[in-house]
Amino acid sequence: MCGIVGYVGPRASQDILVSGLARLEYRGYDSAGIAVIDESGSLGMRKRAGKLSALREALAAEPIGAGTTGIGHTRWATHGGPTDENAHPHLADDDRLAVIHNGIIENFADLRRELAADGVTFRSETDTEVAAALLARAYRANGGDLVGAFRAVVHRLDGAFTLLATHEDHPGLVVGARRNSPLVIGLGEGENFLGSDVAAFVEHTRHALAIGQDEIVAITPDAVSVIDFDGNPVEPAPFEVSWDASAADKGGWSSFMAKEVSEEPEAVANTVRGRIRDGRIVIPELDGLDELFTGIERVVILACGTAYYSGLVGKYAIERWARIPVDVELAHEFRYRDPIVGASTLVVSISQSGETMDTLMAVKEAARLGAKTLSICNTQGATIPRESDAIVYTHAGPEVAVASTKAFVAQITALYLLALHVGRVREALSTDDAAEAVVQLEELPEKIQWILDNEQERIEQLAHWMADTRSVLFLGRHVGFPIALEGALKLKEISYIHAEGFAAGELKHGPIALIEPGQPVFVVVPSPRGNATMHAKVISNIEEIRARGARIIAIAEQGDTAVLPSADEMLRIPLASPLFEPILAVVPLHIFAMGLATAKGLDVDQPRNLAKSVTVE
Ligand code: M6R
Repeated sequence: MCGIVGYVGPRASQDILVSGLARLEYRGYDSAGIAVIDESGSLGMRKRAGKLSALREALAAEPIGAGTTGIGHTRWATHGGPTDENAHPHLADDDRLAVIHNGIIENFADLRRELAADGVTFRSETDTEVAAALLARAYRANGGDLVGAFRAVVHRLDGAFTLLATHEDHPGLVVGARRNSPLVIGLGEGENFLGSDVAAFVEHTRHALAIGQDEIVAITPDAVSVIDFDGNPVEPAPFEVSWDASAADKGGWSSFMAKEVSEEPEAVANTVRGRIRDGRIVIPELDGLDELFTGIERVVILACGTAYYSGLVGKYAIERWARIPVDVELAHEFRYRDPIVGASTLVVSISQSGETMDTLMAVKEAARLGAKTLSICNTQGATIPRESDAIVYTHAGPEVAVASTKAFVAQITALYLLALHVGRVREALSTDDAAEAVVQLEELPEKIQWILDNEQERIEQLAHWMADTRSVLFLGRHVGFPIALEGALKLKEISYIHAEGFAAGELKHGPIALIEPGQPVFVVVPSPRGNATMHAKVISNIEEIRARGARIIAIAEQGDTAVLPSADEMLRIPLASPLFEPILAVVPLHIFAMGLATAKGLDVDQPRNLAKSVTVE
């Protein structure tokens, strides 16, 4: 939540900051602001409630000047509503110090009382202004040393924070600190950048440095220095960003979500690429790490939201191919229930952003308890992979729309690769299963593309007709069940329609009472070739709800004629082995949610109340 950008260099920083914020707007879009210092040391600041466009208008009406040092912020509100006053930056030290912040300072009320007793008056309701006032006080106490002020202040703050500050006394310097909140460095030629993630500066440089937990960074045009909170020098880890700025642009699509759904075939293909050698799954990142998988008795998957649903699908594959029991848990539930994990547990976290605070904290708790940790992540240099013993990257490319789509199919793909790898290492995977899985994985991108080419228009038409629908249900069995959950989440998230996903077998234990004439129900129908019994059971479930007036939209494989008489609408997917069906069946549901939100005239990329990266607990 909240996007942060910092710049020092020879160029006018206003445009660099605003274009960085545009790429970070997915992290929060309640308000935005920038502060810029010019070479004479004069600080200008503009901030506005609302989306970045409101700040752009304010800057067009009253530009901030040609200052070459600056910080910028796009906000997802925590303390205090989305108003101009609560927008960042916040000023202190007679408006000579500007501060921006991502995270939550948990002891801010105590600190605010302490500062108020000291005579400080506040202009906002935010925890950030408290940090700004503390920094100003420490800055004066440290004789005008901004890094020293940070060192003094970080020890007083509880909770999660990335803080950036710039001061009129120091044109050409931006200082930042991070604890449990993301911050990366972009290295330019005669200029340097800071950002919540690399999207903030990727149009200027792809050379980056990762800042570790509890570290303070100072950037000038020619130098970067990093110390830990105790003042010891730190050598930050360098990495190269593997995608360029165009990958994070809309590229002619009506929305980022439309672009990202269209990239689902590529997301799967890129995640598989380089990981099949001579017909065998080989994950180079896991070379030499066999002991992570041999000594374990159990796998625990931790994730939130859509990533959690990919974990639910992954459970079937890991249990099938690696023959290890798997539990899948919501990360925020795991941490606070005194979990039983230890050295014989492999904890697999899944996160597109790699910054989800709930997941990060759960991974840390698992590591503290002695578990081995592996991260499936889409974002290079992110915190969760850095906190893990091993990483398997999904190569879906940058995902900007708040609703996760291409990352979801890439996550399932990565989980399948992992399951096959672990199955081989543990000698649990049969040669036939391994060979079949490789073929299926390689065929997936083409099959997803077939759905986009042949079914997208019809699904969008259906969504258009259903624009006034007030409630939609989703049913699935086995691997189709998490897909039903994902279909419902996507619809809720971007179209604000009530939607629920159920295991089809659970219907008669309660949810069937919801069915009334005309109720639309999407049903993920398993292949009759894979499991005839399960297929027959799902057809029976369909008949049970049809008899009560439900309108059935079936997602079924091409040629499944048995489902035809029971379905009001039929969305076709290509033939695949049962375990691979979910990666196909979810595509129509992503298209449908997007189509319905679009038909309602909603912003599919930036749905209300949400942010892409949830970096607060
Ligand atoms: O970055 P992460 O994968 O850790 O994010 C987890 C969830 O917040 C995320 O999947 C969320 O549910 C999406 N907005 C769903 O579309």
